[in-house]
Amino acid sequence: MRGSGPLDGDLRIGGAKNSALKLMAASLLAEGSTSLTNVPDITDVAIMAELLEAMGVNIERTGQRIDIDVPSEIDPVAPYSLVERMRASIVVLGPLLARIGRARVAMPGGDDFGSRPIDMHLQGLEQLGATFSYEHGDISGQADRLIGSEVFLEFPSVGATENLLMASVLAEGVTVIENAAREPEITDLANFLSQMGAQIEGVGTSRLSVKGVETLSPVTYSVIPDRIEAATYLSALAVCGGQIRLQGARPDHMEMLLRKLEEMGMILEEDDSGLLATVTDRLKAVDVSTLPYPGLATDYKPFLVAALTVSDGVGMVTENIFAGRFRYIDELVRMGAEIRAEGRHAVVRGVERLSGAPVRAHDIRAGAALVVAGLAADGETAISNAHHVDRGYEDLAGKLSSVGAQVTRT
Ligand code: UD1
Repeated sequence: MRGSGPLDGDLRIGGAKNSALKLMAASLLAEGSTSLTNVPDITDVAIMAELLEAMGVNIERTGQRIDIDVPSEIDPVAPYSLVERMRASIVVLGPLLARIGRARVAMPGGDDFGSRPIDMHLQGLEQLGATFSYEHGDISGQADRLIGSEVFLEFPSVGATENLLMASVLAEGVTVIENAAREPEITDLANFLSQMGAQIEGVGTSRLSVKGVETLSPVTYSVIPDRIEAATYLSALAVCGGQIRLQGARPDHMEMLLRKLEEMGMILEEDDSGLLATVTDRLKAVDVSTLPYPGLATDYKPFLVAALTVSDGVGMVTENIFAGRFRYIDELVRMGAEIRAEGRHAVVRGVERLSGAPVRAHDIRAGAALVVAGLAADGETAISNAHHVDRGYEDLAGKLSSVGAQVTRT
């Protein structure tokens, strides 16, 4: 890609990766045919489909819709070959234990975010009566029938909240999840489960109360728009200037981000079709600190850092969710960014322009952040390991080039 701008045009926001994956796992809870619409055509969704198919589920995609046919008998195994490619596979644990009382799931290894334990998932499920054993890198879980209980999460983990929510909907009695994560994708999962017949109170709050039911029914459901994809385009606009309309974006799912961008000087207007964003001048640097929802999402941070590299002034960035997640900074420095990082903090001093260079993507969001940086750089930037980006974006290059960015995928 090359330095670009100003951007101009409309972009449609696709379905949220982090919701679609969990809804696919949750479909295991009901025998029969569940249909999901607004499902992005991305690698992670294909991996989750492969995982469900390995369990005996039949999946068909037609455009943005997938039909998931869940048989009465499921082979409850998530092999390492798939879990290794996508950590989020761990969310099949809750639904499998709830539906058939057995699961064998490979332990996810570490990744570029640093160590990512699943202790809260397992402890929570144990409180509902599941027992676990560990062998050859796999976790085997058993439960005759899960029994409702009060589970207090030490930290509002997204994955642990989702696994517990999916487990508790078929448990006997009432489960209360205290300090639950409140991300919009969890609300989407709760709404999906409720439509299937689950009884959930406190949706959208940090206290979820679930009254278990005997069975759930398959439904047709539309995935919420991807707030992280929207944030990617807004960051591209931040460095290129211009005006873009994000069709279908949900501003109510990204309030803290929009406030930050306004503080930087972006002009934002909500309308019926989504969000109109305008940048006329170089943006001002701000401080960024990630927190669980409704705080600023850790997934936005790489794009915000990319935007700060060419903003006016100095921004202090603090990561409060993951220990790692600063590796892309060395790549940005290769492009001429002035960043000093230590531990959870990074100080970014804006420069007028970055300088295009060959760089490497280490994960989905880091890869997308390098694309944003490349749009703010003189000359050409070539990103290797770009397949990471395909895990979470449907045609990022095509969408950005449709609004005037000079980016191609080879
Ligand atoms: C999900 C998102 C990811 C996002 C993250 C935080 C998906 C597929 N991924 O990841 O994009 O960045 O939420 O918003 O939806 N932790 C533990 N023990 C546990 C579970 C988590 O210590 O049992 C820690 C993690 O190491 C991390 C923090 O809690 O430091 C948050 O993790 P969590 O919210 O669980 O993130 P994920 O669900 O893995």
